[in-house]
Amino acid sequence: MKKTILISFLVLFAMNLNAQTSKEDALLESKINKLVSDLTIQEKIALCSGRDDWSTMPIERLNIPWIWLSDGPHGLRRAPATNKPGYGDQLLATCFPTASALAATWDVDLVYKVGQTLGNEAQAQGVSVLLGPGVNIKRSVLGGRNFEYFSEDPILSGEMGAAYINGVQSQGVGTSLKHFTANNVETMRMYNNSNLDNRTLHEIYLTPFEIAVKKAQPWTVMACYNRVQEVYGTQSPYLLTEILKKDWGFKGIVVSDWFAVIDRVAAMKAGMHLEMPKVSPVNNAIAVEAVKNGELDIAVVDALVKEILTVVFKAKALQKEGVELNVEKDHAFARKVTSEVATLLKNENDVLPISKDKYKKVAIIGEFAAAPRYQGNGSSQVRPTKLDNILDIVKNEYGKGIEITYAQGYNLADDNDVSLISEAKKVAAEADVVLVFSGLPLQYESEGIDRTHINMPPSHNKLISEISAVQKNTVVVLTNGSAVTMPWLNNVSGVLETWLGGQAGAGGIADVLFGKVNPSGKLAETFPMRLEDTPAFFNFPGEQGDVLYGERIFVGYRYYDERKIEPLFPFGYGLSYTSFEYSNLKVSSKNTTDEDGLTVSVTVKNTGKVTGKEVVQIYVSDVKSTLQRPEKELKKFVKIELAPGEAKEVSFELERRDFSYYDAKRNMWIAESGEYVVAAAASSRDIKLSETINLQSTQQVPLMFDEYTFFLEYWNNKQTREILLEYMPNWIRGIVTEGDEAEIREYQGFMVEHPIIKYPYITHGEITHKQVKELVEKCKGLTYTP
Ligand code: BGC
Repeated sequence: MKKTILISFLVLFAMNLNAQTSKEDALLESKINKLVSDLTIQEKIALCSGRDDWSTMPIERLNIPWIWLSDGPHGLRRAPATNKPGYGDQLLATCFPTASALAATWDVDLVYKVGQTLGNEAQAQGVSVLLGPGVNIKRSVLGGRNFEYFSEDPILSGEMGAAYINGVQSQGVGTSLKHFTANNVETMRMYNNSNLDNRTLHEIYLTPFEIAVKKAQPWTVMACYNRVQEVYGTQSPYLLTEILKKDWGFKGIVVSDWFAVIDRVAAMKAGMHLEMPKVSPVNNAIAVEAVKNGELDIAVVDALVKEILTVVFKAKALQKEGVELNVEKDHAFARKVTSEVATLLKNENDVLPISKDKYKKVAIIGEFAAAPRYQGNGSSQVRPTKLDNILDIVKNEYGKGIEITYAQGYNLADDNDVSLISEAKKVAAEADVVLVFSGLPLQYESEGIDRTHINMPPSHNKLISEISAVQKNTVVVLTNGSAVTMPWLNNVSGVLETWLGGQAGAGGIADVLFGKVNPSGKLAETFPMRLEDTPAFFNFPGEQGDVLYGERIFVGYRYYDERKIEPLFPFGYGLSYTSFEYSNLKVSSKNTTDEDGLTVSVTVKNTGKVTGKEVVQIYVSDVKSTLQRPEKELKKFVKIELAPGEAKEVSFELERRDFSYYDAKRNMWIAESGEYVVAAAASSRDIKLSETINLQSTQQVPLMFDEYTFFLEYWNNKQTREILLEYMPNWIRGIVTEGDEAEIREYQGFMVEHPIIKYPYITHGEITHKQVKELVEKCKGLTYTP
């Protein structure tokens, strides 16, 4: 009874709340409508462009306020004033691990909390829109901005992006989902054309944006610099209006990447709201003129202005006064996050974790231990509130009872300087275990510049090789935003990938090295053995302004699987200080439909001695498909924590889309009938359990037969065969002639593999052009079940 009352109360409360919001929405709408009718053309156009570097245009005479937009994504880069660039003099903010690190957590709840914290910091600094997250796919290991993106996989990227957005926006601060889309190369990024087919565009490069938009409704989406299928991202009606707005139901505004607009009028017509930053009065004047001469419909401008004002007023209403940056609390949280991103790649003979019982003397080698590399180069650079380093943290927090020694090992100012190695070797030889901090220096990973190779500096590689020759317990602790080669891998005992861990990274890394935290990161990108093995090897960074996406949908593990190439470390891989056992994979039904979908569950048990976290990954494979499909694709994942001996069952709902490919001819997602393998895995190369199920499609999809469809296809389809028989009775009988069986079959085989348009002359006029036309007409509009 009590429960019923409570539920009724909650329903009433929710209804009331909804009524209130819709009332508020209606009030805001009428206020904006009134403003739009009061604005001059010049003012409307001005509102569709920035006031300066980081703010929207206010119109004082009508009390239209401005809001602050600021980089992002892994911390705030707020300039001291909206008209200052904000490089070097930006306000202090907490620097979190970058996106490639966050993705390695595979933990949407944690990324949501990172978003919450960033949202709160944005409130403290008066920022209304945080320019991130970036969900572009890591198409090539060479991508200069890979550190700023989540993954090579669209589902993982999209889920991470959605969690981040939901977190930030829960604090009344908007986000800018960027860079929309197929923005995967830095070389010539302002002009390059991403030359990719529609299926690839949808399956790989749009999917992360789609997930983020549908699950989180970012206030803004940032249109990219590059061209996609020949059209600039800022000027594409297909991307901005057809897909983003109409197909996905995006409700916010599109912001241009900084200086990305070429043709302002084309951009506005395509659905791009806000040109950033204020470029010059030139573009505004062009747009005003276009309205005056009728080239740009004022109704288009009004619609854009209304949507911009909706975001501006919403942001203003949600702005909080008196929020303060909680430096210590956010720093401590950033440390926890780094401990979750650390990905253990090798741990022979349990060289890690370090403890007093195992080792008396620990050598720390490498300049990164004293001068940490913790973020990437470019617009995302945060000025941290504090910065920890490993040496101090280890000495202060873990040094009791353990002797800590240090050697610089290499010179960050000169990649080829190997003069420090001999001293480091001496220190290494005298220790019980050595931690070599190495990786990629700042200039190796930068916005605007792609890498040309994936090697670490020669001095780092040489240092590791030489140290491993004198010390069997050598652990390499890597700091880099994206994949590197490891020529020394077989000679070292341990490798801990720590990514770009943010300002408190040192603490998080130490916590993992010394066993306070059990590592649980998993690779969100494949580490290749060599650059030559990578999917985009022949087509990166493109030529003459054109980037051919020749590997198509075979990006990341999809490529390595198909080509049977052994990676250095596969997608989804990462070790733990404990072990897990998978059992009892269950599917809700062995025979299902695309409408009913499938529930998959599996039990995971911690079979080791310490508490740990496992990422359960669910991959789906289409056993036999009409179109070429990847061997398997990640569809779901979850991260769970288990105490020693503890077991948990986790379950996942697979829907039609999880079985589908994108049919570019029909412009739709299709889940074909047939067998699918559903697998529970610990990495893309570590399938623990799998089940084969049969899926019956209920979709009715257009048949799309036309005059270029082969005779055989008309014949093989029941519906069109009937129609065919109506038109060609004699001839069809004619091809079933008497004589040698094999000969007939060969003749028939040859005859039926022609488009139907050829039949008037193939049949020597027995079939007329008119009949072919009629036949095609009759078959139009037919559908079939895939
Ligand atoms: C970058 C964006 C960034 C913007 C503002 C551009 O060059 O591509 O990611 O948000 O600058 O700094």
